[in-house]
Amino acid sequence: MRLGILGSGSGSNMQAILDAIDAGTLDAEIALVLSDNPGAFILERAAKRGIPTAVIDCQGFKTKFPEEVQAATARQLHEAGVDIVCLAGFMRLVKQPLLDAFPDRILNIHPALLPAFPGVDAWKQALAAGATESGCTVHYVDAGMDTGPAVLQAKVPVLADDTPETLHARIQVEEHRLYPEAIRVVAEKLGV
Ligand code: GAR
Repeated sequence: MRLGILGSGSGSNMQAILDAIDAGTLDAEIALVLSDNPGAFILERAAKRGIPTAVIDCQGFKTKFPEEVQAATARQLHEAGVDIVCLAGFMRLVKQPLLDAFPDRILNIHPALLPAFPGVDAWKQALAAGATESGCTVHYVDAGMDTGPAVLQAKVPVLADDTPETLHARIQVEEHRLYPEAIRVVAEKLGV
């Protein structure tokens, strides 16, 4: 199974996927890593491992992912022979034509128990709402913001003295376990 990873930041989830591959618990190969942020650490981590990387040029738009750029991204992923696309801290909304190019084959990880707290800084949203538990969700990507069907979820407690950083760190421990597991579940369903 060949994975394509899209990320905008540190890439700790991509690292967790790589670690699962190295440990032999995920039978996959990361074929391509793409980032909309040329300075993202995810690109450095991938390059260090000899994984092909490229920057997605969003033409100076801060949050928009222009349609023609999505079409080009889909072509790149197809050319790399990618079976499943994993969004790992990718901070732009994926729409057609990328969705159409990989139907039911694009996954995202979100740091909350969806449908609670979609969007940015979900751990801060959980704290602000006074939630006593939160967690993370791996879900299929549809055209909405963090709205596709869930594959797997994991819960963590929210502690009375949590800061945004301590809560996010607790959630990330679960993310790193959950993402490889969810990829396995989806790959088995798809037969890839
Ligand atoms: C992760 O916590 C991920 O769930 C979150 O960004 C972080 C990326 O960390 N994604 C979102 O908030 C998407 N809405 P990483 O770059 O270290 O994997």
